[in-house]
Amino acid sequence: MHHRTDSTRIVRNDKSRSTGMNLRDAALKVRLNAYAPYSGFKVGAVVKSGSGAVFSGVNVENAAYPEGTCAEAGAIAAMIAAGETKVTEVYVVADAPRPVPPCGGCRQKLSEFAVGDVPVTLATTEGTEYHTTVADLLPGAFVTADMERA
Ligand code: THU
Repeated sequence: MHHRTDSTRIVRNDKSRSTGMNLRDAALKVRLNAYAPYSGFKVGAVVKSGSGAVFSGVNVENAAYPEGTCAEAGAIAAMIAAGETKVTEVYVVADAPRPVPPCGGCRQKLSEFAVGDVPVTLATTEGTEYHTTVADLLPGAFVTADMERA
């Protein structure tokens, strides 16, 4: 179990803030706003940034199915929009039989902004948690250095 510090703050995407929420509470809360009329599968994700702020995201589906976006992508986009670029902790929750595994694309998105040992908690709404890291989710991630010629 990753240790959470008292410096954790919850920052809503509209910049308003609340206190006293941990990452799980924030992910559960934002999940309720997921737009998932096609799959019926609502996902909430939060990322904590280098400053200790917490950014929330949900999956946003579309009648043109491939245009839907994942909760993790939304949380990352909120962090980037706020001017931060470092993810230090991740929490994802869904109402699923097992803690929901992020899709391949989201593993790559997380690896862009998080070092390998950043803790990732995958969870069910019922309370089961799976603790992993960004590197364990995506071994051999494609990185900037892969674009350099020898
Ligand atoms: N989904 C996420 O938002 N995050 C995940 O980690 C797994 C899948 C969404 C995408 C889609 O809206 C729905 O769950 C079903 O795939």
